[in-house]
Amino acid sequence: MRPIHVGLLGIGTVGSGTWDVLQRNAREIRRRAGRAIRITQVADKDQKKARRLVDGKAQVLGNAFAVVRAPDIGIVVELIGGTGIAKDLVLEAIAQGKHVVTANKALLAKHGNRIFAAAQKKGVMVAFEASVGGGIPIIKALREGLAANRIEWIAGIINGTSNFILSEMRDKGLAFATALADAQARGYAETDPTFDIEGVDAAHKLTILSALAFGIPMQFSKAYTEGISRLTQQDIGYAEELGYRIKLLGITRRAQRGIELRVHPTLVPARRLIANVEGVMNAILVKGDAVGATMYYGAGAGSQPTASAVVADLVDVTRLITADPGHRVPHLAFQPDQLSATPILPIGEVQTSYYLRMRVLDKPGVLARITRILADLRISIDAMVQKEPPAGEKRVDIVMLTHLALEKNVDAAMRRIEQLPTVLGRITRIRIEALL
Ligand code: HSE
Repeated sequence: MRPIHVGLLGIGTVGSGTWDVLQRNAREIRRRAGRAIRITQVADKDQKKARRLVDGKAQVLGNAFAVVRAPDIGIVVELIGGTGIAKDLVLEAIAQGKHVVTANKALLAKHGNRIFAAAQKKGVMVAFEASVGGGIPIIKALREGLAANRIEWIAGIINGTSNFILSEMRDKGLAFATALADAQARGYAETDPTFDIEGVDAAHKLTILSALAFGIPMQFSKAYTEGISRLTQQDIGYAEELGYRIKLLGITRRAQRGIELRVHPTLVPARRLIANVEGVMNAILVKGDAVGATMYYGAGAGSQPTASAVVADLVDVTRLITADPGHRVPHLAFQPDQLSATPILPIGEVQTSYYLRMRVLDKPGVLARITRILADLRISIDAMVQKEPPAGEKRVDIVMLTHLALEKNVDAAMRRIEQLPTVLGRITRIRIEALL
């Protein structure tokens, strides 16, 4: 059979990995796909670099739209990223009847509903394995491998950069900024690193996972997002003493009144496998009603790991290209006319457990007043530690762990406790997940 021609948009970190993997494993890939997969056109704004990389084996252009519109291109691989020109290119590729492979989580989280509707109408595939968890085949697992299950929840370390920073801070006592600079130098971080450290990148990915797990539209704007930039060595240390590790988790859960969609630093029991995922590695726990908890682990970023997912999508699309569109795997796992309108819960309606750290004056009655406020708001204390102050010091740290509580009640309790004259400064609140 004739090779399938691919147009590659963007030959940066993931693009060059994709080029390398396709060249190196060409024979193996052909045996799997049933025909050769060849990148014949590459578009990149740095044409000189692109020419050097492809070494005469593909045509290099500066204009990505020309690649998208080229008649002999069957699949467009979008690796430009972001929601600007990438969006126009993907929509144009679909309009041209091309299949699309993309690693662009921001684009899908924000504009996925429109993109998938356009693809559906045109009968083309939009494959996006590389958009979540780098090389981990989590999209395939959720969409196909777990298709028998009613998914209960997903909890994942889905941003390598922030996990790398947290690991470095805990292991080496490194300052936040030093660890971030290191992650950037290694090519893990997003163009705008605030996306990594403020949880935005994880929220993009979680939005995609949530849609696949629960058969709902992409609803990035309803995700609650809190990053790691305000975490201190002190909290990392206290968590450790209490038997927990702090991880930036993306959590989506089917609750009674809606779906939780939240990214935030989380205390996870140190004995859990996921608590021991270090560095740039990602891990995603998926709980299905039939299968129980399953975990997917691997490199969540980087050139060749992410290329592994891009190329797997190329193989998938190549295999299915002649299939009737109605018989392909639905883009979002559920048939497009079967999406559910279950609401995403605001963070105030989420129920979880909490780590609360406060600095107080070491005087009689201080603790009694605090626990009274918690009791009034139906917040039950699970464990508590008061640190002995250094000699002569009148201020002490109290760390409390709560049982399950409603977030809006915890908010109200924090506001009231912070108003007590014996409580100094703000309370630090970190959510806890047992992940059982
Ligand atoms: N910046 C992302 C991360 C890259 O650190 O995980 C992969 O999406």
